[in-house]
Amino acid sequence: MQPRLILVTGARGFVGRHLCRTLADAGYRVRGTVRSNPPPPEAGIEYQASGDISDRVDWRPLLKGVDAVVHAAARVHLPGDQGADPLAAYRRANVTASETLARQAAEAGVKRLVFLSSIKAADAERSGPGVRQPEPYDITKLEAEHALSRIARETGMEIVVLRPPLVYGPDAAANFALLVHAVSKGIPLPLGSIHNQRSFIHVGNLCSAITACLEHPRAPGGVFEVSDGPPVSTPDFVRAIGRAMGKPVRLLPCPPALLRSLGHALGKGPAADSLTGDLVADDRDIRERLGWRAPTSMGNAMKATFTAQKQDTPR
Ligand SMILES: NC(=O)c1ccc[n+]([C@@H]2O[C@H](COP(=O)([O-])OP(=O)(O)OC[C@H]3O[C@@H](n4cnc5c(N)ncnc54)[C@H](OP(=O)(O)O)[C@@H]3O)[C@@H](O)[C@H]2O)c1
Repeated sequence: MQPRLILVTGARGFVGRHLCRTLADAGYRVRGTVRSNPPPPEAGIEYQASGDISDRVDWRPLLKGVDAVVHAAARVHLPGDQGADPLAAYRRANVTASETLARQAAEAGVKRLVFLSSIKAADAERSGPGVRQPEPYDITKLEAEHALSRIARETGMEIVVLRPPLVYGPDAAANFALLVHAVSKGIPLPLGSIHNQRSFIHVGNLCSAITACLEHPRAPGGVFEVSDGPPVSTPDFVRAIGRAMGKPVRLLPCPPALLRSLGHALGKGPAADSLTGDLVADDRDIRERLGWRAPTSMGNAMKATFTAQKQDTPR
């Protein structure tokens, strides 16, 4: 029997790259889509160009023979990503594009679509005094979840939503890359007075959760928050980076409110909020319904991250 064919969008992004390799190593055939210039095939993975997903993409040729889709492509936070109407730009890439893909996938007979949402969608559901104002990214991930659930009801295609917190691993960008850079150079970080609770997930653990969502008969309809395990504070996360790198970590005390004000003044508000605030993923549902557990602890995942990065560094 032919192994199942999985379409992965955003195949050369951080998560997409790891996911395509994980699925191919597990024996799936993988068709990864990229915006343009598809790279040559690798063992078990072929790449095809979708074009810009903010434009209306004709997914039909890419969906031929596909059994399941993992939709990982998304407009994520980009530096200086404001534009005239940021919410409209996020909506085109994250909501309209997801709807177009899902409708065409259902028409093509795809059985299941796994949508990579974000824990920020859960955050955007909360409202009230003292609750952080959601960003266009957060709002559009939640809107996409709602749109996909409507499509599931209308077409019968199975939809599974995963809500990861910050994903770290070899070559992760954004806040993780900044923290790694600071620790590697011995730069003191003003994070010593933060006592928050945040969830994180290693990219390998996320790929394991995605695989469970592709396979498990009880996954459809799930909106699963996932994480490595119990939340940790930002300082403890930085200490875990330091331990794995074998570097001392220098944390200076600084009131979190001051850090947030400085961050906003410097146009780095979301990064400052993210480093100082709470954001906990409750993974009880995926544990109870799918019996999924993160296969690797944060300590071991962090070690694996830096072993892999060292191996990738040209000598
Ligand atoms: N990394 C995290 O901490 C995290 C946390 C929660 C959820 N997620 C979700 O996980 C998924 C993967 O994230 P990631 O960290 O792998 O992000 P990433 O490295 O930025 O990858 C995003 C991918 O989407 C593609 N893409 C973006 N806009 C596109 C467009 N308009 N047309 C075509 N392709 C487009 C990018 O292609 P180009 O390279 O051509 O731009 C890239 O391959 C996303 O859905 C994200 O929201 C990530």
